[in-house]
Amino acid sequence: MLVRQRVGWNEEVTSCFSPSVRSVINIIIILAGAIALIIGFGISGKHFITVRTFTSAGNIGEDGILSCTFEPDIKLNGIVIQWLKEGTLGLVHEFKEGKDDFSQQHEMFRGRTAVFADQVVVGNASLRLKNVQLIDAGTYTCYIRTSKGKGNANLEYKTGAFSVPEINVDYNASSESLRCEAPRWFPQPTVAWASQVDQGANFSEVSNTSFELNSENVTMKVVSVLYNVTINNTYSCMIENNIAKATGAIKVTDSEVKRRSQLQLLNSGLSPRVPSVLLIVWALLSLSTARC
Ligand SMILES: *[C@@H]1O[C@H](CO)[C@@H](O)[C@H](O)[C@H]1NC(C)=O
Ligand SMILES: *[C@@H]1O[C@H](CO)[C@@H](O)[C@H](O)[C@H]1NC(C)=O
Ligand SMILES: *[C@@H]1O[C@H](CO)[C@@H](O)[C@H](O)[C@H]1NC(C)=O
Ligand SMILES: *[C@@H]1O[C@H](CO)[C@@H](O)[C@H](O)[C@H]1NC(C)=O
Ligand SMILES: *[C@@H]1O[C@H](CO)[C@@H](O)[C@H](O)[C@H]1NC(C)=O
Ligand SMILES: *[C@@H]1O[C@H](CO)[C@@H](O)[C@H](O)[C@H]1NC(C)=O
Ligand SMILES: *[C@@H]1O[C@H](CO)[C@@H](O)[C@H](O)[C@H]1NC(C)=O
Repeated sequence: MLVRQRVGWNEEVTSCFSPSVRSVINIIIILAGAIALIIGFGISGKHFITVRTFTSAGNIGEDGILSCTFEPDIKLNGIVIQWLKEGTLGLVHEFKEGKDDFSQQHEMFRGRTAVFADQVVVGNASLRLKNVQLIDAGTYTCYIRTSKGKGNANLEYKTGAFSVPEINVDYNASSESLRCEAPRWFPQPTVAWASQVDQGANFSEVSNTSFELNSENVTMKVVSVLYNVTINNTYSCMIENNIAKATGAIKVTDSEVKRRSQLQLLNSGLSPRVPSVLLIVWALLSLSTARC
């Protein structure tokens, strides 16, 4: 009984193509696989190792990390790490024979880079970049060679400025007001207020946001004032650009002031959200096309 059911299901799945078309498709798939293997092992003469990078964002003026991992290898002297940047001649950083080699480094990165030397044997090729600048944004390649083989992966590095806002009661204003301030943002973010009591309310008519260029002429100070606030309510101020999203919240009661804040980088980290959604869509699509 069970066997017959399975056969029936298989027939239904594959009945979209006639047997001869099916065998041609099978041959194409087998050939494609064989060619991929030949290219994979033939040209390099060596195996490929897995190298992974993670999209990340740098905060202008601070130190950043470009994350890269690879299959660990205990032979440290045989490990070569090269960081390259698209459109830049020379290297961003090179580590080989157990130490840094700056002989081919581009001057733009002089004195600004380091790998975590004690982490290299465990497969951590992440690069520390000091004093991140706007022009550091771009596509980087993490290239690895070990005694097991070689591999590389690209990383999209975004740069900008982001900071956590602080909300205070603005005692200078004529009505009860809150003042939300964040010292450094770039590109110019959007600012929106929300309150726990009037959820979904639009506060754009009762607030005033201004952006003030900081002394280095790139980043800006964000100040937003919310008028006519009421006691016992929780208000939050959300600042967001294409790199980060930050929220500050305040609750003023008769006896105390409570504050909360958080900063979140967008599209970064170990599990990018968009690709996993695409993967699910892809899986559903392939399920539905299998039924024809
Ligand atoms: C690599 O090592 C550094 C320093 O210990 C750590 O901060 C970083 O998170 C590590 N990166 C990865 C991808 O494990
Ligand atoms: C209120 O005004 C005083 C004096 O004008 C000023 O020093 C202070 O920074 C102001 N406070 C706020 C929150 O704007
Ligand atoms: C709030 O209202 C303003 C106009 O009064 C509009 O421009 C803005 O898009 C609205 N914001 C939201 C989140 O609906
Ligand atoms: C605040 O409330 C007062 C009194 O209700 C009103 O006159 C004033 O226009 C309000 N201010 C804003 C910015 O809405
Ligand atoms: C908004 O703030 C700016 C700068 O603080 C000020 O010049 C302007 O008058 C304010 N506008 C309103 C409608 O309060
Ligand atoms: C910023 O711009 C102002 C006016 O354009 C200029 O005087 C100042 O030198 C600039 N500062 C820097 C750090 O470039
Ligand atoms: C705020 O809440 C406290 C405690 O819940 C209450 O005693 C007080 O009357 C409230 N104040 C206003 C203005 O609603």
